[in-house]
Parts: sequence; structure tokens; C-alpha cells
Amino acid sequence: MARACIRFLRNGEPVTLTDVPPMQTLLDYLRLTQRKTGTKEGCNEGDCGACTVALGSIRNGALVYEPVNACIQLMGQLDGKEIITVEDLDGNHPVQTALVKHHASQCGFCTPGFVMSLFTLHEKAAKQTRAGVNEYLAGNLCRCTGYRPIVDAALEALNTPPAPRDAAALAALQDAQDIFIGDDESFIASPASLDSLAEIYESFPDATLVAGATDVGLWITKQMRTLPRLIFLNRVRELQALHDGPDGLEIGAGVTYEQAEEAFSALHPDMARLLWRIGSKQVRASGTIGGNIANGSPIGDTPPALIALGATIELRKGSHTRRLKLEDFFIAYGKQDRQPGEFVSRIFVPKINAKASFHAYKISKRFDQDISAVCGAFHFAADGPRIAFGGMAATPKRARKTEAALAQGLEAALAALAEDFTPLSDMRASAEYRLETARALLKKALMERDGLALTQTRVLAAREVVL
Ligand SMILES: Cc1cc2nc3c(=O)[nH]c(=O)nc-3n(C[C@H](O)[C@H](O)[C@H](O)COP(=O)(O)OP(=O)(O)OC[C@H]3O[C@@H](n4cnc5c(N)ncnc54)[C@H](O)[C@@H]3O)c2cc1C
Ligand code: FES
Ligand code: FES
Repeated sequence: MARACIRFLRNGEPVTLTDVPPMQTLLDYLRLTQRKTGTKEGCNEGDCGACTVALGSIRNGALVYEPVNACIQLMGQLDGKEIITVEDLDGNHPVQTALVKHHASQCGFCTPGFVMSLFTLHEKAAKQTRAGVNEYLAGNLCRCTGYRPIVDAALEALNTPPAPRDAAALAALQDAQDIFIGDDESFIASPASLDSLAEIYESFPDATLVAGATDVGLWITKQMRTLPRLIFLNRVRELQALHDGPDGLEIGAGVTYEQAEEAFSALHPDMARLLWRIGSKQVRASGTIGGNIANGSPIGDTPPALIALGATIELRKGSHTRRLKLEDFFIAYGKQDRQPGEFVSRIFVPKINAKASFHAYKISKRFDQDISAVCGAFHFAADGPRIAFGGMAATPKRARKTEAALAQGLEAALAALAEDFTPLSDMRASAEYRLETARALLKKALMERDGLALTQTRVLAAREVVL
């Protein structure tokens, strides 16, 4: 029997909700239902961080707090979590005291978001560098104070250890029960297992799957779409599993960017560098590798690298499972090889051979919190090169003609890029810029393969090393 409610903690206090509108965001719940208006609404699309709250989870038995954007966090994602907002801090939290002392707030609109991001950093009880704090705060925008005093305050607050917290109450909320709230026309479903997910999605193939909601949230807040039937993936335990085996990584589709960081780092430093460039801390705490693939975006950041590495994906529909190469999943703009009722369950990424060389680059107007204009990945292995690009075509795509032309030399390969791709001009970049950039990235990858130091090829190498 499915449970017909969601349960979570609000700063340690249990909350049970039986009547939850499927599309309700956490921000609307806090501000409109609870009248807790300390959490601010700025952009309402995950960019500014004014709505940041701390989301507590039990991970490997430990209590972990991460910053999330309440504006694109849906209520259905909250079961088994703890929410802490700025109202839950008493005004004397080390982060708040330091922000006041360093005059790190002027109009104050952004301040609750900064406080909550820094609260989650403080909870980690780890030493931080200035660059580390900057990276942590990349998803929080302040338009009047300037970041120097905010970062000074953060560094000072980190000298005080966090108060001990008890994980027991949150641990007690973890269960293996499916959730179903509503009726066949409009519902929140939150299956707890892969079998339950397969069953309900096969019954309602037109329902919307929600993983991290960093895309789906915007369909609600910006595109004003009506999504009456939502199936949440974040309680499906098999989708949260990540196994680092001798042959490669097996990544559950619901693994977040943040959770994948360590394994990606071990796979190759460029994979970690790529993850750090995705959105902000808040986006990476919610967005999933499966969502980044399944959304079929031509400018998603992980698919080009995963294609170059030879990744495969597992899809499941009902009791049937199939596996295909990731590069074959993307058919055309907005069209993937996925049947109604079928979902992405796992991603397999082979290890990189010690003799191979791998390079991945993201080019965007800003370093943090920006979408790629071009994303290129290059894998030079014994069985031939594998090159893939994002932002150059209607899908993430392999550069097969370029790969073949490399045997004839650099000039032939550079010319072949124009046969592989006819990029578009849009607000991020012109077609000419994209093609020129793709050529430059290919040259750079070849120079790095041939031994040129990263400090010579990468303008941002110094910062990347600090991160
Ligand atoms: C502020 C901001 C910054 C961003 N920056 C970047 C960036 O730098 N780089 C980048 O690549 N992206 C970026 N994104 C886009 C977004 O974070 C990613 O595309 C993300 O990977 C989507 O994952 P999700 O788990 O949030 O997906 P959701 O929003 O939950 O879902 C996205 C789509 O995939 C479907 N889906 C999800 N999981 C599955 C599954 N297992 N099987 C089948 N279908 C599924 C959903 O139904 C939906 O259609 C940004 C988004 C925001 C809001
Ligand atoms: S309001 Fe801007 S990130 Fe939520
Ligand atoms: S203090 Fe005004 S936006 Fe930051």
C-alpha cells in the first residue's frame, strides 16, 4: 500500500503533508502557505540564489546539508529531507555574526540566500581557501555590497566549528514505501524502487519524470506549463547508486552532479573540471547525470564527454531493459531513442586506458553559472580518436569525419570539422565563432596530448588548480 503523504523535517520538527499540489515549489510553500518570507524570490529560475535554503539528507548514514534553490525545488522532492531556512537561525549563527561584523550586506535582499549557502558550507566543518568560498558562492548574486566583505565574513565564520546535530530524526523518516498522493488525473508519485518506478511509469507514460527539477522546475515557473502527473525519481534507491569498478563507473541516473564529483575526479581531472563548471553549487546539488542526458539538450555539458569516453546507457520499460551507446540515444533535436514509459536507469562509463589521453573543455561567456556556447571532448585512444561536441549541432554529436581526417594530419581534421557540423548562431555565439572555437579546441587537445603543459594551454589553469 502506498503512503499518501510526504514527510519531512522543518529544522528538526516533523511535518506531514497530505494535500500537496503536484507543481507546488518549496518557495511558494514557504512564502505563500507558511508566510515565511525570509526566503526571497529573485529570478525564480535557479540563477540568483536569493531563495537558497539548506536541504538536509541522510547519505551513507551521515547527515549532509546542501544549498538548493527553493524556487525550482518541488514539494514532491522533499520526502525524507530536512529543510532549514533563514528563519530557523537565531541571528547569532557564526555566519550571521560574521556577515554583520564585516558589513557584508547593504539592501539585504540577497543576504538570506548568502546566509543559507554559507550555513551549508559551515556545516561541512572544513577549512576553505578564498577561491573555495568564491566557488561555493557562485550561485548567489549580490548587486550592491560586493563580494570581498562577504568572502571575508565566510572565512571568519569557518573558524568556529558547527554545533553538533543529531541525525536520528531524519534517519527515522527514511523508508522503502512508495508514495502516491492524488488520483489518476493529477498526482505526485514517488516510488521507492526501480520496479515500482517501472510499473507506475508504464501505467502513466504521459506523466512527467522529475529528477533534480533543474529543468522541470523552470517549465513550471517560466514556461507556465501544466504538469498534473509527476513521478519523482529521487527516492528510487537503485537510481542513487554509484559503483566505481575496475572496468568503469556504473552511475544510477538519479546521481547528482555533486555526488558524482569524486568518481568523475578519479576518472579524469577534466571530468571534475567539467562538473565544476555546471551551474552553481545549488544546481549541482539537485541536477542529475540522468537528467542531463535524458533532457536531450544539445548544450548539456556531460554528454559530449561521456560520448567521447564511449559511455553506454541502460533504459528500462516495464520489466524490459536494454542498453545502447549514448551517442545513439540522441536522434534529432528534442528526439531521443526512448519509448513512452521508458526511462534511463544507469550510465556506464569505461575507464580511460593509461596510454590514452583525454581532454574536455567548456566554453561559455562566464566561468560559473553559464550554459556552454561550445563544449568539446577528445579521447585519443589506441583504437582511434573519439571526438564529440555540444553546442555545434541539434544534439550532442560525435565528429566522425574529423576523427577519420586526423590520419591525414591537422589541416585535414580542421577542415573536416566544417563537414561534421553546421552550427547555429544564437544569443550565446555565432555560427562562425562556434566553428572557429571547435577548431581551436581540437588544436589545443592535440597540443596537450603531445605534452604541452596545461598552464600554457589553459588561461584559467591557475584557478582550475585552486578549485
Ligand atoms: C541555473 C541553472 C544553471 C544550469 N547550468 C547548466 C550547465 O552549466 N550545464 C548543463 O549541462 N546544464 C545546466 N543546467 C540545466 C540542468 O541543470 C541540467 O540539464 C540537468 O542535468 C537536468 O537534470 P535534472 O535532474 O535537474 O533533470 P529534471 O529537470 O528533473 O528533468 C529534465 C528532463 O529529463 C527527464 N528525466 C530526468 N531523469 C530522467 C530519467 N532517469 N529517465 C528519463 N527521463 C528523465 C525529465 O522528465 C525532464 O524531461 C542549468 C540549469 C539551471 C536552472
Ligand atoms: S529566486 Fe533566483 S535562484 Fe531562486
Ligand atoms: S546586499 Fe543588496 S543585493 Fe546584496
